[in-house]
Amino acid sequence: MPPPLDVFRALADEVRLRLLHAVLSAELSVAELVEVLGLPQSTVSRHLKPLREAGFVETRREGTSVYYRRGALLADGAFAEVLQQRLAELSTAARDARAVRAALDRRRTRSREFFEKIAGRYGELTQPGGGWSALAAGLAAGFSGRDVADLGCGEGDVALLLARFARRVAAVDQSKAMLRHVRARAKEAGLDRRVEPVEGDLEHTTLPNAAFDVVFIGQALHHAARPAHAIAEAARLLKPGGLLIVLDLARHDQDWVRAEWADQWLGFEEDELKGWMEQYGLRAIRMDRLGDAADAALAVLMAVAEKTRPAAQATLE
Ligand SMILES: C[S@@+](CC[C@H](N)C(=O)[O-])C[C@H]1O[C@@H](n2cnc3c(N)ncnc32)[C@H](O)[C@@H]1O
Repeated sequence: MPPPLDVFRALADEVRLRLLHAVLSAELSVAELVEVLGLPQSTVSRHLKPLREAGFVETRREGTSVYYRRGALLADGAFAEVLQQRLAELSTAARDARAVRAALDRRRTRSREFFEKIAGRYGELTQPGGGWSALAAGLAAGFSGRDVADLGCGEGDVALLLARFARRVAAVDQSKAMLRHVRARAKEAGLDRRVEPVEGDLEHTTLPNAAFDVVFIGQALHHAARPAHAIAEAARLLKPGGLLIVLDLARHDQDWVRAEWADQWLGFEEDELKGWMEQYGLRAIRMDRLGDAADAALAVLMAVAEKTRPAAQATLE
């Protein structure tokens, strides 16, 4: 903390008071402060120095820009408030406040104009959310606090993604080797307390009845000996109102997948999945072909269904 005399001396100048008034209302770059005060950059920089040394403002470098924001001395809200009230009495206060608003409007205009121009071509710049895996992680936050079963989890990508937020994820697979990967990856990611690898068949797992908010079956149903039984098993695991999310392949004619990928079935028809869901107490709420490859030979089919609530419970909610 600088000596009190230096602190109060830093305030004893009109330009410095105007700078402080501006910085108290927004974090501003040197160029913006120059515009706000309408003074040469050398004058603005000279006066920012004692304000910074006294702790009224601090700097933050972002790329080639240096921004000024309120400093440690103003962390005390009461002091900052008194100061702000007195600074509002400056004869230049209203004019400077308008200039700060104009500087902020220039930021907004710059951003709006850019996106007005790029609309329809945004995909050339980047992917949604900054990257598909970042986007998936962001969306997985919607699973916070949920109990999830991932049937046919493979190496556990989905289970691990959801376990960052979910209360627990039961990761079920028939393959011991796959589950070894899941266990190792969960440990490495520090998620082993929330990921429970479970060896079993997705037609009849050892998991308890009505214990899960969400059951996910990703690209595993076409491997099941009896896919309808896997849907029945998912229905058994779900709490009333819980969701079954199936990602699989739409019915296709690529017979080679049987030999090369050990697929049992050549995808599914929407009506076929819907029929099984309804047969086992699930209400199909969404069927979609997904992604850029919706018309491709191996298109992804998404089927979402809700475990219907018992009538008495439905009226309570
Ligand atoms: C193609 S991988 C999908 C992995 C992951 N779910 C995904 O979406 O990327 C299919 C996984 O389902 C498992 N699987 C296939 N049939 C199964 C069954 N009847 N019971 C349990 N797991 C099964 C396989 O061992 C494999 O790990």
